[in-house]
Amino acid sequence: MNASHSKPKYYLTTPLYYTNGLPHIGHTYSTIVADVIRRYKRMRGFDVVMTTGADEHGVNVERSAKKAGMSPQEFSTAIAAQWKQLWDDLGIPGEEFIRTTDERHHRTVQWLFKRCRDNGFVEKGHYTGQYCIFDNAYVVDAGPGDPCPDCGRPTETVTEENYFFKLSEFQQRLLDFYAANPDFIKPESRRNEVLSFVNGGLRNLSITRTTIRWGIPVPGEAPHVFYVWFDALIGYLSAVGGPDYDQRGLWPADLHIVGKEIIRFHAVYWPAFLMAADLPLPRQIWAHGWLLFDSEKMSKSRGNVVRPRPIVNVLGIEPLRYYLLREIVFGQDGSFSYDALVGRYNSDLANGLGNLASRTLTMIERYFGGEVPKPADARGYGRDVPGSADFASAALTNITQLYERLSFSLALESIWELVGWIDKYITVEKPWTLAEKPEDRDRLANVLYTAAEGLRIVVALAHPVLPQSTQKIWQQLGQAEPLDSVQLDSLSWGQLKPGTKIGKPEAVFPRVEKSETIERIEAMEQEQNKAAAPPATTTAAPAAGSVTAAPAVEASPKIGIEDFAKVEMRVGLVKTAERVAGADKLLQLQVDIGDEVRQIVAGLALAYKPEALVGRKVVVVTNLQPRKLRGVESNGMIVAATGPDGSPVIAGFLEEVPVGARLK
Ligand code: MSP
Repeated sequence: MNASHSKPKYYLTTPLYYTNGLPHIGHTYSTIVADVIRRYKRMRGFDVVMTTGADEHGVNVERSAKKAGMSPQEFSTAIAAQWKQLWDDLGIPGEEFIRTTDERHHRTVQWLFKRCRDNGFVEKGHYTGQYCIFDNAYVVDAGPGDPCPDCGRPTETVTEENYFFKLSEFQQRLLDFYAANPDFIKPESRRNEVLSFVNGGLRNLSITRTTIRWGIPVPGEAPHVFYVWFDALIGYLSAVGGPDYDQRGLWPADLHIVGKEIIRFHAVYWPAFLMAADLPLPRQIWAHGWLLFDSEKMSKSRGNVVRPRPIVNVLGIEPLRYYLLREIVFGQDGSFSYDALVGRYNSDLANGLGNLASRTLTMIERYFGGEVPKPADARGYGRDVPGSADFASAALTNITQLYERLSFSLALESIWELVGWIDKYITVEKPWTLAEKPEDRDRLANVLYTAAEGLRIVVALAHPVLPQSTQKIWQQLGQAEPLDSVQLDSLSWGQLKPGTKIGKPEAVFPRVEKSETIERIEAMEQEQNKAAAPPATTTAAPAAGSVTAAPAVEASPKIGIEDFAKVEMRVGLVKTAERVAGADKLLQLQVDIGDEVRQIVAGLALAYKPEALVGRKVVVVTNLQPRKLRGVESNGMIVAATGPDGSPVIAGFLEEVPVGARLK
């Protein structure tokens, strides 16, 4: 019998991400968290399946496609491919990648709708809202006569026929369900939020539209298409069999990981849809907090997004995984900072785990010819150090419980306490001194066995978060069985066999220079943001396994004059220029743009001396969202081309132009 058949199943999901934009590290955070849970559950004996995917329908995608001069299908296919490619490149692909444009998904949505309708939970009604004719979309929260926030044109009051889901009939059933399943919504704060929302009464929900083209057709009811949530949520079920869900035995899902802003849809609408269709409900919904940048939610519309590829290209995926899980308390918001990311890398990975591994392995190689020594005392030397069986077993129980509660930050803190103790133990015992006296040979063997065995337990515990680097150290410890097949429940002190031949000690986390690393990431980020626009049909996916700063666009799509008119460029005069402390490439400029003087931080320092810029006329993009670079606010951008050697060349004028003149 296939071993995996005897294992219990565990099914978890990430949100299905919208294809009107590309991933930033907020999205990456959700997928990384789900991947950590997947790996942890495997080490607890489960046969795990993770679904991620793309939410492709709706007005926003339709609109972005129009802007890119593409059909929604073409556009969305290109973007979905980039999401999928990123997860592949980062080593976090799901077993299933569901696209809401997949045929299997269409079939499932239509099937679920029929079940809800047959059970009497769908009715026809009328929806009235403010509609922007130009953008073909309703404007949420607008009153009669209010302008469209996108194009500024007046909206019109439109009434259309819709299908409604009778959500109001589920208020009591949902409340009973929450009461009977206190762990259904996590964390507690989100559960309270949902309870008070449902207690406040539920209104029926419009689940179709006739004004949108880009959606799943309601069978026999053209021009109705399904609308937003009665489409995307169902993807979790489509991915694992849809109408035939019982064949794979993965439904109901054990866990949906979502961001806090979509908890209501997952914890209210989704169970109600499933109840209406007589289908089993997911076991748990966990809402994490937001990654903030400069105290605001990171999002494309705020222009403050951090992309994952530059970080991964410069530092690697593992430091990013470690940082996100260690630094952010799961369930709460957390601020993203490059400084903390690189700081954590150097202190916890390079100086912490990496250093412990290399000093332990090097000493075993040097003093015992590369073979794990036999300890004279099998329980390890000294009862008050991690090298005791009791100590290790307590740590294992404690850390497993923290993982189980998804308290990643505390789990890592506890694992790194072990790292610290083993390190201290080595420092106190001074094996290099013991090695000088033959009479201390037994003690030396004890110390190095203890350190190596402690290290083995540490890397097994850290494996869900640091899969590649822990596997490397595991192998260096001479362990043949792949670490991901090790079961945490059967891990115990003393399993490291004396005489095991260790591998060549190699640095797993080389130390990096902080400011240089941050500059490299930021420079790559800027390059990528410049390129990150809607995709072109020609978008080439990077080769599997490679992590490159693949620009979002290979060939720029045409834009209309109204798009160009959105960019405000003016002639500026550089008043002062100075270097930004600790950043080799950045200059901080004060630039007169006619009616005000702007502070702008630009990556020009390697190509221009500050004094050479003072008095120079430059082209400034004046209506960009302000952002901070190395803590200094930048309010605008200097236009420059990339010269033949890759360095920036500032755009200028051959004739006289007045300061503040607008470029057209
Ligand atoms: N398509 C819907 C979800 C449908 S699920 C059936 C959607 N997509 S999204 O592309 O906007 O992705 C939202 C998810 O990305 C959030 O729920 C969250 O998991 C993640 N994040 C997006 N921005 C984030 C932060 N700034 N911080 C942390 N996570 C964030 O909503």
